[in-house]
Amino acid sequence: MLIDSFDREVEYLRVSVTQRCNFRCQYCMPEKPFEWTPKENLLSYEEMFSFIKIAIDNGIKKIRITGGEPLVRENLDQFIKMINTYKSDIDLALTTNGYLLKSQVEKLKKAGLNRINISIDSLEKETFWYLTKKNVLQNVLDGIDAAVDAGMIVKLNSVILKDINENEVMSLYEFAKNRGIQIRFIEYMENESAYSNLKTMQSKEILEIISGQQLIQELVAKENSAAKLYVDNSGYTFGIIEPYDDSFCKTCNRIRLSAEGDLIPCLYYEDSQSIKGKTSSKDDMEHILKEVIKNKPEKNRWSHNSTETVNNENISSRAFYFTGG
Ligand code: 5AD
Ligand code: SF4
Repeated sequence: MLIDSFDREVEYLRVSVTQRCNFRCQYCMPEKPFEWTPKENLLSYEEMFSFIKIAIDNGIKKIRITGGEPLVRENLDQFIKMINTYKSDIDLALTTNGYLLKSQVEKLKKAGLNRINISIDSLEKETFWYLTKKNVLQNVLDGIDAAVDAGMIVKLNSVILKDINENEVMSLYEFAKNRGIQIRFIEYMENESAYSNLKTMQSKEILEIISGQQLIQELVAKENSAAKLYVDNSGYTFGIIEPYDDSFCKTCNRIRLSAEGDLIPCLYYEDSQSIKGKTSSKDDMEHILKEVIKNKPEKNRWSHNSTETVNNENISSRAFYFTGG
């Protein structure tokens, strides 16, 4: 078991397999970074797998593959198969923007993947383009259908921004509900890589919109769920992720491995330790894993009251395409 200094059990590892992405989401990577990390600086799948085995042996039960956009890295299915073969009852999931999903979903399924979160912030062509700078809404919609058809457990993620897609809360809700899949609305987390003029819709504003149309009730939180869950009158469940809320950190059970090998205890802070060059030593990796968990901070510093924080402390300098969100 992996327990941090605040008595939280860490059982969830997010693994970013690449920083690269075929979208330019305004809240994540509005411009291509000045330079991508050269491919030779990335961990190979074998190196990642060496660490993953140690993590699983020490108590990690859930692994999510992220990016950047994970489907742009070649042979992802082979990596998934390595993990699944090592421990077939591991809860293995993927987060993707959905663009390349239709053509890969069968391969991924065969490799042992059964859960996929797909990001979709707009169902309107223009807004979709404005947010991602890629005119591929239809490909993403096809990706969602293909994942459902393949029998995957699918969830949708939507970041809701003031004046951009706030008018789409109900259409995204109905879209997901009609397909019987859970949608989670995510509050935008400020970070230095994002386009600077974005303003999040707060969870209470999103809930106001939904409760104007539906009778909703909060569900008792599932342990360690990043989302608060709600159910409507028809029994449909949706979620809201509020990183600004204390409960987000209280139940945090996760650590992150970046594509370059940095093991990161918190999405918000710069701290990390690298496993690059150490993956041939089980002892070194185990030591780093335990140190990182010991140093996991109690909470992030995102805050809705930006005027009260000093030196813009509520803006993270970490890019989401680096940490994997
Ligand atoms: N704020 C909130 N969510 C973000 N994501 C990426 N950047 C941000 C941000 N700044 C989430 C999006 C996307 C997933 C990959 O990460 O929901 O779906
Ligand atoms: Fe790419 Fe995801 Fe970042 Fe969008 S949020 S730019 S899809 S990594």
